Amino acid sequence: MAVARRAVELGVTLIDTAYLYGGGANEELLADALHPYPDGLLVTTKVGVARSGPSGEWQLDGRPDVLRAQVEQALRRLRVERIELLQLHRIDPRTPLADQLGTLRDLGSEGKLGRIGLSEVTATELDEARKIVDIVSVQNRYNLVDREHEPVLEACEAAGIAFLPWRPVAAGASGARAEVAAVAAELGATATQVALAWLLGRSQVVLPIPGTARIDHLEENLAAAHLRLSPVHRDRLDRLGR
Ligand SMILES: NC(=O)c1ccc[n+]([C@@H]2O[C@H](COP(=O)([O-])OP(=O)(O)OC[C@H]3O[C@@H](n4cnc5c(N)ncnc54)[C@H](OP(=O)(O)O)[C@@H]3O)[C@@H](O)[C@H]2O)c1
Repeated sequence: MAVARRAVELGVTLIDTAYLYGGGANEELLADALHPYPDGLLVTTKVGVARSGPSGEWQLDGRPDVLRAQVEQALRRLRVERIELLQLHRIDPRTPLADQLGTLRDLGSEGKLGRIGLSEVTATELDEARKIVDIVSVQNRYNLVDREHEPVLEACEAAGIAFLPWRPVAAGASGARAEVAAVAAELGATATQVALAWLLGRSQVVLPIPGTARIDHLEENLAAAHLRLSPVHRDRLDRLGR
């Protein structure tokens, strides 16, 4: 709760959560920490993973009644009348996409949702989804050393869709650490800050969502917004993902 409050105090305007994060417990925690929400703060949540496996285990579940129930619960837990950005956590391969997105569109018509985003999709899935409903954001795993979803980022750029890379600061834990550390040392920054600065400079549509439970890491990560990479540094970092 202290980290969430400090984040908002320092100017963070988007906080990402999900039903999956504790079966709604994280939504509740954010409301306890931040409600009443200041103007301009977007708390975005995700639905579509449920404990509906044979023994109650988590599984992808985009059935309309499940999505609707998770949205209704999120409204109560977050203590809002409308969720301004609702993301489909995963496309459920066993439920027609039109049913999953149609449910979210209906919830939008009922005034319970603002905009709709996707998570962990391919460029083809993004195209299919956009034929059904307006998509404003995509949340895929992406960082300095993991560019698997580069084509999706490019599709988002072309369409003006926000791209929220998850696992954004994982660069420090990769085999490419030495080069990241070298650039960081030259700039008097940390490897995490270099990873975030690289993401922020990658495209106007990129909005990293680094996770932390520590106020010192939060402050360090936010300071990355002021770190400028030279073209030479960017080129060296760009090469890590090729
Ligand atoms: N859509 C999806 O499928 C999906 C999947 C996973 C995550 N997410 C979302 O994406 C967010 C971030 O993803 P993530 O947590 O997987 O990856 P991440 O943000 O790249 O990494 C988080 C880890 O990095 C550490 N960290 C953060 N700042 C640091 C710093 N300055 N120095 C050293 N370590 C630092 C954190 O530990 P400390 O707590 O010690 O700082 C934490 O263990 C999550 O919070 C979640 O909202 C979405």
